[in-house]
Amino acid sequence: MKIIKAGDLNFACEVLRSGGLLAFPTDTVYGLGGDAYSDEVVTKIFQSKNRSPFNPVSVCYPSFCKAYLDVEINSKAKLLAEKFFPGALTVVLKKKINSKVSWICSAGGDTLGIRVPNNPIALSLLERLDFPLAAPSANASSELSTTTAQSVCESLKSCENLVILDGGICNLGIESTIVDLSVESKPKILRRGAISQEEIEEKCGFKLIEANHSEFSHYKPKKPIIINVHQVGKKDALLAFGDPIFGAKYCLNLSSNSNLTEAAKNLFLMLRKLDATDAEKICVMPIPKIGIGTAINDKLEKAAQKDN
Ligand code: TXA
Ligand code: MG
Repeated sequence: MKIIKAGDLNFACEVLRSGGLLAFPTDTVYGLGGDAYSDEVVTKIFQSKNRSPFNPVSVCYPSFCKAYLDVEINSKAKLLAEKFFPGALTVVLKKKINSKVSWICSAGGDTLGIRVPNNPIALSLLERLDFPLAAPSANASSELSTTTAQSVCESLKSCENLVILDGGICNLGIESTIVDLSVESKPKILRRGAISQEEIEEKCGFKLIEANHSEFSHYKPKKPIIINVHQVGKKDALLAFGDPIFGAKYCLNLSSNSNLTEAAKNLFLMLRKLDATDAEKICVMPIPKIGIGTAINDKLEKAAQKDN
């Protein structure tokens, strides 16, 4: 495991060209990247995260037109890309038969999720490479996504040869919104994320169908999570939003002035920090379900669900 500076792009490229894995910052969360053309490298990504082979991995490009060789473009996809790329959106499209991207990314299906991250470090990295990067979030499967190099280090500590490109804390802090346009007449939202459904529908002029997409790996801290709390006990850790309630053993505030963008950016890091304390459980104050707040609530609800 090695952390390198954001300026060290030459070394980062070398790692990737020689078939290694590189964790890198994006606008949303850190990605665990590797050569998307190589079956061997993509297999290594799945193994490092302990990810189910049935859960597809999206692929990062430096621009939308670079994805033309790999997926069937339709006009809704073009519109989405025009409005939101580079940005916190993943678009799922039919994969082209002659695409060089490893089929392992599609996890047995015939589609590919594509993404153009809005982060200058990620973009210059992608521009320098002559292959796209298969890149799931850089965390062990079923753990929280990571928003700093240090969190990647902690979550993937068993991944010996991993190199981490340190780009500081990710701007948005919540994963990309996933829209499935593989059937153009049925645009579906597969995952709520940093761009709200309202914004997509408004800017693109079409409605998204709610898909009950159950992600394989939910965002689970080790401690129990209780959401929408109005009171806390002495042994609890509190994740506050706005004016904090009193009485908890530990307290971190997602945003003391109730700013949802700031809350999203802090969410995973603060959950990780509270999870590392000796508190009995993590209690989260109510967060309004508007804009990016919808995605925050979605993540918290999934984290709060008991395993069965
Ligand atoms: O913001 C993000 O999307 C981050 C950064 C690193 O790019 N990536 C990320 O990757 O969150 P991951 O693998 O943790 O979550 C991507 C989700 C998975 O739940 C997967 O099921 C879904 O995208 N996905 C990827 N390709 C897909 C496909 N072809 N069809 C349906 N779902 C797909
Ligand atoms: Mg993930």
